[in-house]
Amino acid sequence: MRSQQDGAGGLRHLITLDGLARDALTALLDRAESYRRLPGQPAYEGRELAGVTVANLLFEPSTRTRASFDLASRRLGAHVLNLDMQSSSRVKGETMLETIYTLEAMNTDVFVIRDSEAGMPEFLIDHVAPHVSVISAGEAHLNHPTQGLLDVLTIRSHKRRFAGLKVAIVGDIKHSRVARSTARALHTLGTTDLRLIAPPALLPAEDEFPGAQRFSRIEDGIAGADVVMMLRIQKERMAGSAALDDDAHFRAFGLDAARIKLASPSVLVMHPGPMNRGVEIASEVADGPRSVIREQVNNGVAVRMAVLAAIAATLTRHRRPL
Ligand code: CP
Repeated sequence: MRSQQDGAGGLRHLITLDGLARDALTALLDRAESYRRLPGQPAYEGRELAGVTVANLLFEPSTRTRASFDLASRRLGAHVLNLDMQSSSRVKGETMLETIYTLEAMNTDVFVIRDSEAGMPEFLIDHVAPHVSVISAGEAHLNHPTQGLLDVLTIRSHKRRFAGLKVAIVGDIKHSRVARSTARALHTLGTTDLRLIAPPALLPAEDEFPGAQRFSRIEDGIAGADVVMMLRIQKERMAGSAALDDDAHFRAFGLDAARIKLASPSVLVMHPGPMNRGVEIASEVADGPRSVIREQVNNGVAVRMAVLAAIAATLTRHRRPL
């Protein structure tokens, strides 16, 4: 794979957190913190992306990622193209690469890509022009780098240290790109106590998540946890017969008020969304005092601003002269 950084160490693409060094990751979190504004405060507005065109090409459904990339780009002064995927020529058989080349010809500088095909972002960074960047907004079950960054930013703002932290991930880990990217970011930042809690059918392969403990009972896995991250069941990535019964899943693995008492009293309850209340999490916990789920959404805009600003700074070095 081509490097995500250019020869001078600037961030050129972001398609995975694998291989992103702790310093680079921390620099993105620090920059995101400077952009973060609470709901009700005036949003940060800047010119970091002035003259830059960002195209959002999300070929899978999205609310949070799509909206936050759009807002992040506009708040930093970019031109933004949100291609309506249902009416794009991809439904007529045009390849992703042809779509990219077409929009490159319209001076698009940054492509934000979500696609169900594993390997697509890597393929694209091997083919785009030197002055063009690719950011993954979700790759199959494998990578969701900006979600991983916003998750660790949320944890950092409450816990201030990653070493010694006990983090439990509960639910459909097998199909979760969020779990993979967030686990990678936690590992880079020094967290070693990671617990994976799921029915056997929803646990990842044995060679994934090295060092993590695996649990088949939520009560065992979340005991004393500092962070509990709940995941939805990704029925769209399962064959119909493999789909689980929602009520049975909630009884066995759902996070409710009784179970959350088993975790640390200062536990953070997280969920990347979209949430299925009554399937993986009870409303009383999702909306309860330990929940930071809305903070995750708020941090999502700040993190995407930070990534876009870092990439725009790199791109200016690779542009063609007039
Ligand atoms: N967390 C996340 O990726 O949400 P969306 O699918 O709504 O973008």
